[in-house]
Amino acid sequence: MASLLIRQDQQILRNIRLYSADLKIGRASECEIQLSDPGVSRKHARITLVDGLYYLEDLGSRSGVFLNGEKIQRAPLKSGDKFTIYHFQLEFVADEENDTEPAAVLVEAQAVGKEYALGKQIVTALRNISLTIHKGEFMALAGPSGSGKSTLLNLIGCIDTPTTGSILIGGQDISGKTPDELADLRLNTLGFVFQTFNLLPVLSAWENVEYPLLQQRHVAKKTRQERVQHYLNVVGLEPYAHHRPNELSGGQRQRVAIARALATRPSIVLADEPTANLDHKTGEGILRLMKDLNQEEGTTFIFSTHDARVMEMADRVIELADGQIME
Ligand SMILES: Nc1ncnc2c1ncn2[C@@H]1O[C@H](COP(=O)(O)OP(=O)(O)OP(=O)(O)O)[C@@H](O)[C@H]1O
Ligand SMILES: [Mg+2]
Repeated sequence: MASLLIRQDQQILRNIRLYSADLKIGRASECEIQLSDPGVSRKHARITLVDGLYYLEDLGSRSGVFLNGEKIQRAPLKSGDKFTIYHFQLEFVADEENDTEPAAVLVEAQAVGKEYALGKQIVTALRNISLTIHKGEFMALAGPSGSGKSTLLNLIGCIDTPTTGSILIGGQDISGKTPDELADLRLNTLGFVFQTFNLLPVLSAWENVEYPLLQQRHVAKKTRQERVQHYLNVVGLEPYAHHRPNELSGGQRQRVAIARALATRPSIVLADEPTANLDHKTGEGILRLMKDLNQEEGTTFIFSTHDARVMEMADRVIELADGQIME
């Protein structure tokens, strides 16, 4: 898959995989590639994939799109091409394997609404949410407390069901699934990192990571042990394998929760405020770890956050306010 390197002042800000055949670049939250700077137009440019070739197009921006120094309207892209959008320098990098297949759609929310009954009162937590998430995305859900972030993650994670609209995972509407099929989705396709970690207190770090693998019957004992060891190593916790949660710091517990979510090899990891209980430095380390796994293993991450510094690390930020996606 081709990718895009985004730099500002010679520093690499982001490396984004071009997971879809049509990606808009701009300031608006509907743009898949967001550049938050007032000098960038809301919908500034777009990259499309047509018959195996990528094209760059100006969407009528104020400050224009300059490809290798020349102002363009629409032009094909080849590997190494550099273009500028306001103060951002972008570089298009084609994949060596020439794999121009756009990534699959993993999650689709179609006009989703969610209401909770609270005594006689009805609380509308989400209204008319439509959203498409492709394989390989690293996406943040932002918004103030009560805006519906956890509710949306729970719906995508099949922990709860929408009141109206549908959620599709891998192209299949989850409302048509039996409880067994849903349990299977949760076990094999989805990984969940909860804000409060939800580790089992009587189990060691090793056993917590191993727990969901014991339920994956097809995973042999040897593979299971290798996996636990690998992911504890990935999150840097091998020396703490035999510690119980109450013998670990908050950041270490969060890392156990991430290792547990990853060990089953899910295609999607949903993380509800993975850094909320951590100091900034630890939080940044956790985010970096998630980003590395996203780039190295292609795992899709959807995480919620309040933290502006965490949002900056996302390839795409969806902002919720009062249960709706902000335009
Ligand atoms: N089980 C429930 N019963 C009734 N109302 C609920 C329930 N869960 C959530 N809500 C309401 O739905 C709305 C959205 O809540 P949600 O937890 O999704 O927000 P959030 O964006 O995750 O907030 P925070 O940043 O504080 O975690 C809130 O008004 C909340 O009070
Ligand atoms: Mg929440």
